[in-house]
Formats: sequence, structure tokens, C-alpha cells
Amino acid sequence: MNSSLSLQIRNVQARYSLAWNRKAMVALDDFSLDLKAGEIFALLGPNGSGKTTLFKLILGFLKPKQGSILIQGEKAGTRKARAQVGYLPENPYFPKYLTGREILETYGGLSGLSRGVLKDRLEPILELTQMSSFAEKPLHTYSKGMIQRVSLGQALIHDPQLLLFDEPTTGLDPQGVDLMKEAMKKLRSLGKTILFTSHLLEQVETVADRIAILYQGKKLVEGSMNELLKENDAATIQVKGLSEEQLSGVKGALYDFGASAVEVTPRSGSLENLFRRYTK
Ligand SMILES: Nc1ncnc2c1ncn2[C@@H]1O[C@H](COP(=O)(O)OP(=O)(O)OP(=O)(O)O)[C@@H](O)[C@H]1O
Ligand SMILES: [Mg+2]
Repeated sequence: MNSSLSLQIRNVQARYSLAWNRKAMVALDDFSLDLKAGEIFALLGPNGSGKTTLFKLILGFLKPKQGSILIQGEKAGTRKARAQVGYLPENPYFPKYLTGREILETYGGLSGLSRGVLKDRLEPILELTQMSSFAEKPLHTYSKGMIQRVSLGQALIHDPQLLLFDEPTTGLDPQGVDLMKEAMKKLRSLGKTILFTSHLLEQVETVADRIAILYQGKKLVEGSMNELLKENDAATIQVKGLSEEQLSGVKGALYDFGASAVEVTPRSGSLENLFRRYTK
């Protein structure tokens, strides 16, 4: 056990039993993952590849058939482990007659927060989620983007270390996407650990530190964005101080031409192409 890890998953298998013929289907197989404080990790994969299943396991809603899951050194599903997890679900559902503020107060109360602590937590969360202008209105008046902000707020109210965001930007407008990405970066700077899923690969590229790709319940690849997108056989050469004419003849000996600066940087491919290569 390594209790300095926010999340330690070892060789987990998850199955769903199908009542009609009693056969179980394996939704996640031999899955392992270590996450540290202050990192954003994206779990990618086509529909049905096991992403939400992994979240259910970490939350303790589903028991692994094999393997183990520890959150801050505590076994998944225990009270101590759950207290360290904040969850933004794929399809959040809240009572519509409550206001945004009341939702956050309700979830805070359910998490066992005292009135005093709750009061101190509310304002920074309303600010981070930019809910202040509509926090006093009932949820039935909210748009999808506003509901998503409430959902983010409820995931943070008990100040957990590990945050699970299931498709946090799906259905949001560009401003809503920016808000979510900024909130994720702010949370990372506060030392929180974020595990999230998304099908929007361009957005993933700009916010994730590391990624893994799941396919039919198996992890195919894992690594840092830099490592995975680096193309060893390609480079971009940036040159300053040369005319177009000189550039056309340059190829072999750039400095011989008298360039004032030559910068050679490894070229990156796109996450989109990497994903398609593994999941075609
Ligand atoms: N309650 C359930 N009972 C039976 N099978 C299930 C259940 N929940 C999920 N599955 C199956 O487990 C597999 C993984 O599903 P999961 O919801 O984890 O996928 P996902 O990667 O989150 O997909 P999506 O991108 O569509 O959200 C799928 O084949 C799905 O049909
Ligand atoms: Mg899902």
C-alpha cells in the first residue's frame, strides 16, 4: 500500500451479471492505475469501453470481482474512502424545486459538514463555479450549463482529494467549456487529483497531464501527453532572420546561411490521431 497516492488501482476486474441467461459480462479487465496529488488524468475510450464502470468501482457502487482499489490508502467503498471522493456524474439529477445554493447546502449537510464549515465553503465554490448570479433561483429555471456548474459545486462541497468527472464538458457551450477547464486547472493548482472522461479530444489535449485509452474493458495505452504525442521521426524547425529565398535553399546547413536563430523542437501529433490508431 502506498498511502501517498490519491488513487491506487491494482489489477481490477469488473463484471455485470446478465439475469436472463446468468452469464456475466466483463466490463473492465486487469485494470491498474496510480494517481498522485496535483495531476489531471483523462480516461478515453469509445462508448461502452468501461469508463463509467471504473468510476462506479472507485465510488464503491460496484464491487470489483478481482483486484483492489485504494483512495488515499483507504479501501474503496468505505466511509473514509468515500469522504475523499467528489463525483460529477454523466447525467446529474437534482430536485428541481431547490435553488443552486440549497442544493450545495443539502449535499454539504449530507456529507456531515457543520453549518460553520459549510458557510465558509459556499462562497469560494460559488465563485469557482461562477454560480453567484443564479444561486438563489430554483433549478427548474436553469440551463444545461448552469446545472453542470451546480454539479461541479456538489462534487467539491466536502473538499475531497480525488475528483471524478464523467464527461464534464459534454453539451456545454465554448464559455461553459472554458469555465470547466479553468476550474480543473485551479483545482490542480490546489493539489487536487482529477480523473475525468471525455470524447472531446481537443479539449482533453489542452487540460490533461496524462491519459489512458480503454477499449472493450482493457487499457491499451497510458502515458503523459508529451510522451504519447511525440513523433520521433519528425521535427519542426523554426528559423528567424532569413528571407524566403534563402529559406528555400536552406535544408542542410541552416547556420551556414547566417540565420540569427534556429530552433529545433520535436513535433507533436494530435491526440485525435493517437486515439483513432488504438480504437479503430
Ligand atoms: N448496469 C449494467 N448492467 C449490465 N451491463 C452494463 C451495466 N452498466 C454498463 N454495462 C456494460 O458495461 C460496458 C461498459 O459500460 P460503461 O458504462 O462503463 O461504458 P463507458 O465507457 O462509460 O461508455 P460511454 O462513453 O457510453 O459513457 C458496456 O458494455 C455496458 O453495456
Ligand atoms: Mg460512461
